[in-house]
Amino acid sequence: MLSEVLLVSAPGKVILHGEHAVVHGKVALAVALNLRTFLRLEPHSNGKVDLSLPNIGIKRAWDVAGLQSLDTSFLEQGDVTTPTPEQVEKLKDVAGLPDDCAVTERLAVLAFLYLYLSICRKQRWTREDLELINKWAFQGERVIHGNPSGVDNAVSTWGGALRYHQGKISSLKRSPALQILLTNTKVPRNTRALVAGVRNRLLKFPEIVAPLLTSIDAISLECERVLGEMGEAPAPEQYLVLEELIDMNQHHLNALGVGHASLDQLCQVTRARGLHSKLTGAGGGGCGITLLKPGIPGGWSSQKWRPRSRP
Ligand code: MEV
Repeated sequence: MLSEVLLVSAPGKVILHGEHAVVHGKVALAVALNLRTFLRLEPHSNGKVDLSLPNIGIKRAWDVAGLQSLDTSFLEQGDVTTPTPEQVEKLKDVAGLPDDCAVTERLAVLAFLYLYLSICRKQRWTREDLELINKWAFQGERVIHGNPSGVDNAVSTWGGALRYHQGKISSLKRSPALQILLTNTKVPRNTRALVAGVRNRLLKFPEIVAPLLTSIDAISLECERVLGEMGEAPAPEQYLVLEELIDMNQHHLNALGVGHASLDQLCQVTRARGLHSKLTGAGGGGCGITLLKPGIPGGWSSQKWRPRSRP
């Protein structure tokens, strides 16, 4: 049982290359951001579990006794357990969310309840703890989007710049700190549906889509090679290669059907200023990343960028 206040945080992330392809066993490169999500856990004596997620407008409370009287399979300590469809159904009953609750909010609550009921928390993270946190975060992802590759939870657990391939994580040791402009298009996304859409397209047009995934894999490998060469003192030509890779990947993602009009607009607007953008993550709207070249006179900074909330 938690005896004192615990404040934890994890970095947000962007995927440089390989989203969607990574679900099909290809390489992804992902980097942690200097933007973090914070979680404050505080003990109570009112017999309730309160959940407050102000950014998405969630405030709910449940009776601890009610939660504890649930199926004991949730309360097994020790190994990380994968959520079963029956457990997720049970959580939907317990969550008591209104019918018109938005999908994002609903899934956030279900993932919280699943992890709350399954995890025993600790206060200092050893390597083993981080491995466990990563495994549990992956199960949270499973509740939310069904068939995740594991890249998102890995980069938010370990931080830094990572190469992710079929569950194997390695860090991109010599890669330079990249200046990335992250743009939220404010268009809601549904990763589960997009991942399923790519799978359907692959099943429908295997001869067309499989080579696209192979090509995205090659882009990730080329990006990894260039980042490794850039080291401490990146040369302008190396930025040009990164930009070309971003453009090619963006076209591939559009061909996979995960692009979006707002992201096309972001690409056009930044392109007119000599910058290169691509969607990042699930790409059903969501976010775009723009690579900012360092030291360009008159270049942009995130402060100067004021995206319209919806085109
Ligand atoms: C979502 O941020 C990244 C995807 O590749 C899905 C995944 O890897 O699980 C679209």
